[in-house]
Order: sequence, then structure tokens, then C-alpha cells
Amino acid sequence: MLTRTDDRARSLADLEPVPDDPLIALIGLVNADPRPHKIDVGVGVFRDGAGNTPILKVMKQAEQRLLDTQVTKAYLGIAGDKRFAELLRPIVLGGHAGDPRIAGLQTPGGCGALRLGFELLATMNPKARVHLGTPSWPNHAPIVHAVGLETVQYPYYERGQGAIRFEDMVAALRSAEPGDVALLHGCCHNPSGADLSEDQWREVRDAVVDRGLIPLIDIAYQGFGRGLDEDAFGVRLMLSACDEVIVAQSCDKNFSCYRDRVGSLWVKTGSVETTTIAMGHVFQHSREMWSMPPDHGAACARIILDDPELRARWLVELTAMRDRINAVRQRLAAADPRLAFIGRQFGMFSMLPLSPEQVLKLRADHAIYMAESGRFNVVGMSDDQMERFIPAVVEALDA
Ligand SMILES: Cc1ncc(COP(=O)(O)O)c(C=O)c1O
Repeated sequence: MLTRTDDRARSLADLEPVPDDPLIALIGLVNADPRPHKIDVGVGVFRDGAGNTPILKVMKQAEQRLLDTQVTKAYLGIAGDKRFAELLRPIVLGGHAGDPRIAGLQTPGGCGALRLGFELLATMNPKARVHLGTPSWPNHAPIVHAVGLETVQYPYYERGQGAIRFEDMVAALRSAEPGDVALLHGCCHNPSGADLSEDQWREVRDAVVDRGLIPLIDIAYQGFGRGLDEDAFGVRLMLSACDEVIVAQSCDKNFSCYRDRVGSLWVKTGSVETTTIAMGHVFQHSREMWSMPPDHGAACARIILDDPELRARWLVELTAMRDRINAVRQRLAAADPRLAFIGRQFGMFSMLPLSPEQVLKLRADHAIYMAESGRFNVVGMSDDQMERFIPAVVEALDA
């Protein structure tokens, strides 16, 4: 037993328990439910009509090729797979790909990119505040707080009305302090499912530029909404308008390789010299956190993007995922006028206008699991499960 010699001495037994992350807790509840007909629309992974999250066929081919051709597992370096980042560059940045003031590197998933981006911003200005829309993902604020920055909430979505609180959002951004950070959701990313229209993006851009804010765009679902280029509209608009932009990107969804942790961070500054210095800090932070990103998933994405035939097959499989998401949305929207808003949204998520009590009743009576906010994954269920999901939700709305 530890003998305390001064007031600073502590043991691990002094630790307070960490409150459950609601999303992780929900996964535990689903797993613990023995009812075979349970429906899990809480977790954010794409499922096909049979209810599976298959490995893309093109990913299997790339993995086989990697297995056959890889001759070493020596370190790649802090930036990870540079060719992966080079090939991803035009997909994310579009017409800005040739801008030498933008640099990028491979990260462990989109969440790794978020953490790295905020580490850089906190180094730049520990007093910067990060403006975060509500609702957002439960890990956004903790990541910002972990680097010591303060969060300020801006209103984003009115759940009952299925609509973006756009005027409130812009007013809040217009009251931010110069040098603050605006955390924006790229596409299909907001848990509400409500994306900004192109005109709304332009107004947000004006607010960001007028107030001298730094936009950080979290884009993890590119290709799940309307198409790779269309979904990157907001990223590219901000790059056109602002000298300083951070983009946290993920390939885990659009390559369906969630557990392989594939992402990238992009940093734009006003000059090549400043970008070089900023990337020095990014590398330093990476070194402190994970040293180097894991190779496998990014190497497979690189193999796919580097081979025109595999790239074309990836686009076909990505399109099939997008088509399923949009078809399920239309089916849900047609089921009841109160669900019509789902058909006007994009991506895997939407938010039902249910109270936490109604959500818990769905859990108890129908073994349907969604977040207490009513946030659910529209492609979280199989086609068969949807037959039960729709009437159960309509009954809950009637209650
Ligand atoms: C807020 C947020 N951004 C980005 C991502 C990107 O996903 P990943 O880190 O799995 O690449 C996630 C996924 O959990 C997320 O919660």
C-alpha cells in the first residue's frame, strides 16, 4: 500500500469513474439485449439490405494485392502513406489540389485528424474559442476540451421542425470573436441529417470571413450524400474564401473500413512558409500522440485510388451505398407525413421528433435502439427490419 509522504501523492485508486459515452453505452445495451429481433439503429455504420456491413469487394482485392506485394513493414514516417495523401488530395480539395499553401497527412481516422487539427489550433492560440453547432457528436466537445480550448455552442437544428435554425446559426457566428474557430460539418455529418444548402454555405462563408474566424470542417461522409464533388462543396468554398482552413477527413465510411482507421488532415495557411511551419507543429503533435499512423487501411485505399480499374469499382460500390441510403430515406419519408423531412436530408443520420421517454419505450416494447435524442441511422436496419421499424415509430409518434 502506498504511504502518503506529501499532499501531492496519489494512487490510481483515487481516480473518479468516467461517465459513460452515451453512444458506447448504447452499443453495450444492444449487445446485452437477448431478443433476436432487436434493431440497432444507434451505431453509425452503413448496413446493406440484409443488415450487414460488408467489406467492399474492391477493398478485398486491394487487401489481397497488398498481401501479395508488400515486402516490408518498416516504418513509413510521421506523415504515413504520402502517396495515399497525394491521391486523396484532389478528391477532398477539388480545384484547390494544386494550391501549395495546403498540406495534408494521413491520420488514424477522422477522429485522429480532428484531434490533430485542434492540437494545432490550441498551439496557435490557446485562447481561441471553438464554436460548435447543437446538436453535434458527443466526442466533438471532449476532443476540443482535451486540447485545452473552450467551446461555445451555436444553434444548428430544431428537432421538432426538422429544420436548420439557420438565422440563429449565422447570428451566433457573427457574434464570435475574431480568431475563434467555427467547427462546421462537411456533408451528411450532422447527427440531425440536415445539411447546409449551397446558398446557406455561402452565407456561413460570409459570416466566417467578416468575423475573421478560422473554419475547421469535419468531413467523414463524402460521397454518401449527392456525390464526391457535390459533398465537398462547403470545404472548397471555405478554401476559396479563407487563408486559414483546417479539414479533418475520414475514409472510414466511404471505403467502409471503419476499424482500419483511415483519415487525413489538411491545413491551409496564407503562405507556403507558414504552412511549412504549421506542418512542423502538426508532425510534432502526431509524434507525441501516435508517432505514426497505422498503415493497412490507408495502403489499401492508396492501391484502390492508384489503379484506374479499382478506382472505378470503388466509385460503383460507393454509389451503391449512396443509392441505398437515399432509397431508404424516400421509403421512410413516404411512410408518414411526419417523417417527410427525412426524404429531404442526406447521409446516414436523422433525428426523430421523439421524447427520451418515447425512445425508451421503443427500446422496451420493440427492441429498437436509437440515441435518446431520437438520432438514428437510416441504414442501420435490414429491409426486413424496416417492416417492423416503420409501424413502431409511427405508433410512438402517435402516442
Ligand atoms: C465527430 C466525428 N468526426 C469524424 C468521425 C470520423 O470517423 P473515424 O474517426 O471513424 O474515421 C467520427 C466517427 O466516429 C466522429 O464521431
